[in-house]
Amino acid sequence: MATSGKGLEGVIAAETALSDIDGKQGRLWYVGYDIHDLAPNATFEEVIYLLQNLELPNASQLDDIKEQLAKEREPNDFVMGLMPQLAKNCAPMSMLRTAVSASSAKDPDGWNTSEEGNYRKAIRLCAVFPTLVAYYDRIRNDEQVVPPDQGLSLAANFLWMLQGDKADDESARILDMCLTLHADHTMNASTFAARVCAATLSDIHSATTAAIAALKGPLHGGANEQVMKMIKEIKEPSRARDYITKRLESKQKVMGFGHRVYKTEDPRATHLRRMAKQLAEKTSDGNNFEISQEIEKAVMDAKGLYPNVDFYAASVYGYLQIPTDLFTPVFACSRVSGWTAHVREQYADNRLIRPDHGYVGPEPRKWTPLSER
Ligand SMILES: CC(C)(COP(=O)(O)OP(=O)(O)OC[C@H]1O[C@@H](n2cnc3c(N)ncnc32)[C@H](O)[C@@H]1OP(=O)(O)O)[C@@H](O)C(=O)NCCC(=O)NCCS
Repeated sequence: MATSGKGLEGVIAAETALSDIDGKQGRLWYVGYDIHDLAPNATFEEVIYLLQNLELPNASQLDDIKEQLAKEREPNDFVMGLMPQLAKNCAPMSMLRTAVSASSAKDPDGWNTSEEGNYRKAIRLCAVFPTLVAYYDRIRNDEQVVPPDQGLSLAANFLWMLQGDKADDESARILDMCLTLHADHTMNASTFAARVCAATLSDIHSATTAAIAALKGPLHGGANEQVMKMIKEIKEPSRARDYITKRLESKQKVMGFGHRVYKTEDPRATHLRRMAKQLAEKTSDGNNFEISQEIEKAVMDAKGLYPNVDFYAASVYGYLQIPTDLFTPVFACSRVSGWTAHVREQYADNRLIRPDHGYVGPEPRKWTPLSER
């Protein structure tokens, strides 16, 4: 029987029209559009439409999806009833996992699993994620929640609900670009988890919940939070090289570096580095950016590893005054657009995902009665 490398490296687990990567050239496309074209030009709403419909929207289609996304931002009563307990007892990604699972209870489409029903559920999930994260943060800080403003983009509205101040256009646009950059990434761990769940014909909320659970881990979406912790520990640029050397000598990984597929610069990191620099200049607070640059040089010199999407995202979110433990939930607010598109793609041409195994246990043996053990 054919065997695969550990971690399914190189295995084609599913066919997808949603995104593609060239790991050697450092290229990424969503439905054929280069990320270097999408990041500066597209809004996140256009990207959601693209992933859900496989085409860019025209002006009236864009207006429609913006309106649908703006109308569906409020969590349902059941989730709102749970939120104070979740805010008090759960870490942010655990809250999100539970709140999204609970959101299914009162979804207006109920058990409607038609293509149209699942499309509406996908849009609702994309719309509600930022509100769950912002409400959670305000409730845990004993602050009044700030209801969504239907006139704002998804990115600007998130900052509004989180901070209670209207973000300036530059900050809102930077977050919007971050959301575009994180929206989809082929068969990453959380997307694969979502597809495995969907392939059993479980519902789209369950598949999205499985994806959140997978994103939570520090080897996947949780890396951005660890990056900011590292920057805070380093404190100043001159200490970065020594810190990295010690970390690598003790065989610890440096979060935000390395990638299963990219063997050169992750194209998303190029944009995030530029945005981190832009915000460092705008805020006249270059420290985090300079520390990041020193870390990048030290890791390249020692291991030849490039930063991945999580590395400069940490500085960008920090400059946008997003609390560190919300970095991974912000990643989820973007990736939900990809997850739900993959789930719908899986349903459209489904077969149960059930790989084989390599058995490494003992040879078959005889049962030993308890008295003889
Ligand atoms: C992303 C990641 C999980 C990919 O893992 P992978 O494809 O299984 O690669 P491996 O962990 O097998 O790494 C291959 C080699 O590079 C090294 N390496 C990879 N990433 C590293 C990192 N961030 N820091 C230090 N060394 C690293 C490994 O130690 C290994 O070296 P070795 O061959 O001498 O043992 C891995 O690079 C990692 O853990 N990075 C840090 C977490 C992170 O930033 N995750 C977000 C991903 S977008």
